[in-house]
Amino acid sequence: MMTKYDFDNLSDRRIDNARKWDYSIVKSKFPNVREDFIPLWIADMDFKAAPEIREALIEMSGNGAYGYTYPTEKWYQSVINWYRKRHNVELGKDWITLGYGTVPNMHVLVQRFLGEDDSIIMNTPIYGPFAYAAEHNDRKVITVPLLKHGTRYDLDLDKLEDKMAKYHPKAIFFCSPHNPSGRIWSKEEIEKVADLCLKYNVLFVSDEVHSEHIMRGTFTSALELDDKYLDNLIMFTSPNKAFNLGGLKLSYSVIPNEELRTKFREQYQRNSVTSPNVPGQIAMTTAYEKCNEWLDQCASYINENLEITKKYIDKYFDGWELMDMDSSYLPWVDVSKSKYSMHEIAEMMANEAGVVVGIGDDYVADADDFLRLNLGTSHQVIEEAMSRMAKVWQENN
Ligand SMILES: Cc1ncc(COP(=O)(O)O)c(C=O)c1O
Repeated sequence: MMTKYDFDNLSDRRIDNARKWDYSIVKSKFPNVREDFIPLWIADMDFKAAPEIREALIEMSGNGAYGYTYPTEKWYQSVINWYRKRHNVELGKDWITLGYGTVPNMHVLVQRFLGEDDSIIMNTPIYGPFAYAAEHNDRKVITVPLLKHGTRYDLDLDKLEDKMAKYHPKAIFFCSPHNPSGRIWSKEEIEKVADLCLKYNVLFVSDEVHSEHIMRGTFTSALELDDKYLDNLIMFTSPNKAFNLGGLKLSYSVIPNEELRTKFREQYQRNSVTSPNVPGQIAMTTAYEKCNEWLDQCASYINENLEITKKYIDKYFDGWELMDMDSSYLPWVDVSKSKYSMHEIAEMMANEAGVVVGIGDDYVADADDFLRLNLGTSHQVIEEAMSRMAKVWQENN
């Protein structure tokens, strides 16, 4: 019989010292935030992890041994089976390298593949840490604005090609599905980017961490492309967004080309990145082996939150427009038609409504009039947050 999972009873986020819920952290961003605030900002969910993961971690913690470990055969097989089952992709075991986070992986890549004058190209707006990976290592970022057609982004392939031809970037950081909008890219779109990468000798780096919560359309992994593209591909992902395991600090890369993979791993050796953390590996293996059904139910619960959010926005929020969201739990809202700036709105919501939202500033370029919400919480919390914000918006408009 199918288990019906409970997404209404949330975890107590004080126990894990969640940044998302921490009053002093939120106060440093919004000094006058209401003390009873609801956080809809950082990309972290409030659901309890799947019971199967909790049980596996309880067993591990009860055993009392937290010593050095290694990437286990069971872990590799869980990743291979996951890709076979969920994404119809057959991975070679040696393509997979366990790492300590997707953003750290991007830093490792920059350190190993970019020379002093090299740059990374990316479509913007995009997740802020994509640029940090280059900037923290004194490398340049080249941005190519996405085309905004109504409430949907499209790739500007002509500009991408112009800039690749002009600046010779070493790699593209491609966000698929796209954060912040949740847009999934079609196979044709991904192939066009991959073609440009081959033409201009740009390494294709695909971040696919948001590929597991798909609400509409079909997600295509860059790993589904033809072999000639795979030879130039580095794919980064983790179960962290899907299963809310970000605090366990593990992720992995998939690199079909042996030369690229050896080069990438050399940087791990230089920094002595060796054994993974014990709970992380157990949680990840369990998620991939046992939590298929939990994930599907989680995505449909989030979709219900999206419906609640849409209803409120349509009815009460003049000047707000939700970008089409195919995946993830992070709606991207265009507020350019309102009379307030995104900063004014975020402050108004924090101070008067006690709802903390994300601001476009946290993304790389072309995000001056946007807010980002977070639906990874209960229907009750979303209802409460949206109704508080609706009231304040009505009063101020
Ligand atoms: C596009 C993108 N990449 C990477 C990450 C972080 O991934 P990880 O937890 O695997 O380090 C996030 C987190 O929000 C993200 O949105």
